[in-house]
Amino acid sequence: MSYLSLVEIFKHPITQKYLRRSGVHHAVTVTEIACKLAEEKNENLELATKSALLHDIGHFEWYREGKWDYDEYRKHDIHAIKGAERAHKLLIRLGENRIKAKEIAIAILLHTDSYLPFSVADDRSPLQQIVYEADELDELPGGGHHYKQMKNDEAIERLTIVDEKVRQSFRKDVI
Ligand SMILES: [Fe+2]
Repeated sequence: MSYLSLVEIFKHPITQKYLRRSGVHHAVTVTEIACKLAEEKNENLELATKSALLHDIGHFEWYREGKWDYDEYRKHDIHAIKGAERAHKLLIRLGENRIKAKEIAIAILLHTDSYLPFSVADDRSPLQQIVYEADELDELPGGGHHYKQMKNDEAIERLTIVDEKVRQSFRKDVI
């Protein structure tokens, strides 16, 4: 079974383009938290970490006169819908297994319900709940988590460690 790694996904120009908007630091940190939560809860590490890495890939830039306009953002945001679609397209392009690509897209779709007229809080699967919780754990007031910086070299180093943990989880499945 070939494993499409987090590093391969991260390096793709589409990921690079959209993670620049929502922040590489946030994406990598949420991936690490999701990995830890999935280990603790005995959930699928691969799906949890890939969903986490791509969860905010759907953000539009709501800038007005150089500043993020939160009123506009709250009124018009559909980043979870956009992100689910973008992530799915990207993963399929990279040769991801279709069943996994769909699971990841749905976890991204449900990682927040801020864009919905109803709540999905009680309806998330354990995997979807991990992505939601990991995101919440890295959140800062005023969207501060989106502005923390991380160079690509550091991101790749940290994602390589998570990739190794995911690969180890496959070995455990076999034993
Ligand atoms: Fe997020």
